[in-house]
Amino acid sequence: MTTTSETKKLNTDIYEIRRIKASDYEDVTKTLTVLTTVGVVTKEKFHKLLNYWDSVKLPDRPDERMFNPLVIVNKKTGKVVATGMLLIEPKIIHECGFVGHIEDIAVASSEQGKNLGYHLIRSLVETGKRSGCYKIILDCDAKNIGFYEKSDFSKAGIEMQIRF
Ligand code: ACO
Repeated sequence: MTTTSETKKLNTDIYEIRRIKASDYEDVTKTLTVLTTVGVVTKEKFHKLLNYWDSVKLPDRPDERMFNPLVIVNKKTGKVVATGMLLIEPKIIHECGFVGHIEDIAVASSEQGKNLGYHLIRSLVETGKRSGCYKIILDCDAKNIGFYEKSDFSKAGIEMQIRF
C-alpha cells in the first residue's frame, strides 16, 4: 500500500532542490512570471542581487544567511522549474529572535500539480527551523490558502498594504 508520505516524496532521480545560482538567470526570471510581472532585469542586476543575498549572514550565526532563495531543478533537462525565497528577519523582540518570511513562490505552469510547490515550501521551512526561526509567515491570495494549509500553515492575522 502506498502511504501519503511516500507519494509526497520528492523524486530525487529527476529533481534537485538547491540555492539559486548565477546561471539560473533565464529560468528563474521566466518561472517568476507565473506569479507576477518581472519586468526588465538584466543579467548584471540579477548577479549583483545574488552576490548581495549571499553576503548577508545572520547575527551570531555565521553559517546561516538572511536571504535563502531556493530553486527546484529538473536534473534531466537542467532547467529550473520552481523558485521561492525565505527571508529571515532578526528582531529585538523574543530575545532578538528570528522570523522567517516566505516570498515569491512560483512553480512553472507545466510543472504545477506534481507536489513541487509542497517540497519547495518544506525546504524553506526546514531552512527556517535550522536557522532558529521561532515562526515563519507569508501573505497569499485566498485561492492559495488550501495549498499552504497542506504544508501545515494556518490562517493568522490580516494583510494590509500601501502601494507606491
Ligand atoms: N488551492 C488548494 N490546494 C492546492 C492549491 C490551491 N491553489 N494548489 C495546490 N494545492 C494542493 C494540491 O492539490 C496538493 O494537494 P494533495 O497533497 O492533496 O495532492 C498540495 O496542495 C500540494 O500541491 P503542489 O502540487 O505541490 O502545488 P504546485 O506545485 O502546483 O504549487 C503553487 C502550487 C505554488 C500555488 C503554484 O500553483 C503556482 O506557482 N501558482 C502561481 C504563483 C502563485 O500563486 N504562487 C504563490 C504566491 S504566494 C507567496 O509567494 C507567499
